[in-house]
Amino acid sequence: MFFRSWKGALCGALLGANSVAAIDLDLGQPDSIKKAAQTVAKGMRKYYTGDKPGDIPGNLPDPYYWWEAGAMFGSFIDYWYYTKDTQFNDITTQALLHQVGANKAFMPDNQTRTLGNDDQAFWGMAALTAAENGFPDPPPDQPQWLALAQAVFNTQAPRWDNATCNGGLKWQIYPFNNGYNYKNTISNGCFFNMAARLGRYTGNQSYVNWADEMWDWTAGSGLMSDDYHFYDGTDDRQNCSEVNHIQWTYNAGVYLYGAATMWNITNADKWRKRTEGIIAGLSVFFEGEIMFEVACEVTGTCNVDQRSFKAYLSRWMAATVKVASWTNELLMPRIRSSAKAAALQCSGAPDGVTCGLRWTAGAAYDGEAGVGEQMSALEVIQANLIDKVDGPVTANNGGTSKGDAGAGAEEVVNPRTYNVITTGDKVGAGFLTTILLAGLLGGAWWMIA
Ligand SMILES: *[C@@H]1O[C@H](CO)[C@@H](O)[C@H](O)[C@H]1NC(C)=O
Ligand SMILES: *[C@@H]1O[C@H](CO)[C@@H](O)[C@H](O)[C@H]1NC(C)=O
Ligand SMILES: *[C@@H]1O[C@H](CO)[C@@H](O)[C@H](O)[C@H]1NC(C)=O
Ligand SMILES: *[C@@H]1O[C@H](CO)[C@@H](O)[C@H](O)[C@H]1NC(C)=O
Ligand SMILES: *[C@@H]1O[C@H](CO)[C@@H](O)[C@H](O)[C@H]1NC(C)=O
Repeated sequence: MFFRSWKGALCGALLGANSVAAIDLDLGQPDSIKKAAQTVAKGMRKYYTGDKPGDIPGNLPDPYYWWEAGAMFGSFIDYWYYTKDTQFNDITTQALLHQVGANKAFMPDNQTRTLGNDDQAFWGMAALTAAENGFPDPPPDQPQWLALAQAVFNTQAPRWDNATCNGGLKWQIYPFNNGYNYKNTISNGCFFNMAARLGRYTGNQSYVNWADEMWDWTAGSGLMSDDYHFYDGTDDRQNCSEVNHIQWTYNAGVYLYGAATMWNITNADKWRKRTEGIIAGLSVFFEGEIMFEVACEVTGTCNVDQRSFKAYLSRWMAATVKVASWTNELLMPRIRSSAKAAALQCSGAPDGVTCGLRWTAGAAYDGEAGVGEQMSALEVIQANLIDKVDGPVTANNGGTSKGDAGAGAEEVVNPRTYNVITTGDKVGAGFLTTILLAGLLGGAWWMIA
């Protein structure tokens, strides 16, 4: 990672002055937005090698972890939804189907050593998005998008853990992995988000009840403040009495879209208030109207995972507009400004359209590059096509994906057992956590208690 940033910085220094003029983006012209999105999507696709002979479909090469590949395929599904360009559909379907694992719940054996609920959920949410957006269904003898998302949900619900902290999900699935004692916000937020969306798609009230329960727990545990700021997580060995107050864009985003979906289902004032509250809380992530990762961009310490987080806040802000149209004027100005700023940052070598990390840096390419940088720029740019697309479908209104309310049961009834592996190298979604950023905790200016 050190080498990588050093190289990035050097490239920036050498090429910053004479790099080509970024990506053209005229937000008034849908074709311009599509073309910009295509350029950035192609840049992201270059990192993927899983479709090459001998490689493993669904995996990104080092240093990218498995969860981020799931997130990336979610962005390719979004890309198709916004542009109708099918060029990444085949690699996306191939990757998702290859990674379903023995019990078709996105728990492939190869990931056991580091498998968190959040990692599993990023793949599950990609499948759920495919169902909601009407992404082409897999052949009938293959697992189906909706059933895959239900399998993720069905395997996670029984992991609800009342033993400490009055409930919630632990970060890690297996006790032998580091992080098993951490109840983190992204794992719980992904479950909330999926429960709300499954409730909307299927009309099955039990998902909606789970979403309610997860919201209440998040508030009660202190992982969300009264003014709707979302913190990173908490140690269950201390019964969640100490909260790690670092704030990440994707935590706010995952709850935002879940809350907006709950409003869409219920039309209840309390969900409107909550959605509005989360939107107000987002201001910590905006400099003016430009999105930034407050916890690490200023200090220059964003790790590989964290470089992708703005993608998810962008993705879920746009999705929110679709299920709660009254949020349009609250969210779209920020999406527009952030997209323009992101496009300006997409001016790096070697092709003159490689995207940097810091959208607040203006037109001078900041020298950073990677899957996270491309994905974030892609999501915020294509989000500007939100008026041009239909909203998410449901089972009885346009949805074609086949579900299975009992999917994943094999995994629950008969969980596979593993010998304890000593790893010590746990790295997965949201691994900022206690170790890496402990040093930051003391004096971070942006932490709002
Ligand atoms: C697991 O790893 C093996 C060996 O590298 C590979 O052949 C297989 O395709 C992988 N499976 C998944 C689901 O990634
Ligand atoms: C956890 O506790 C809650 C509240 O007391 C209860 O409703 C729920 O059924 C319990 N869940 C499990 C899995 O025991
Ligand atoms: C753990 O914290 C919860 C509140 O989050 C409290 O209700 C419970 O009594 C605590 N348990 C212990 C053993 O302190
Ligand atoms: C509703 O969802 C629950 C939880 O997954 C499931 O157990 C139940 O069978 C579903 N009901 C129907 C009618 O599909
Ligand atoms: C819920 O979302 C759908 C999909 O975009 C939309 O058509 C519908 O109008 C929304 N419902 C409400 C009450 O806004």
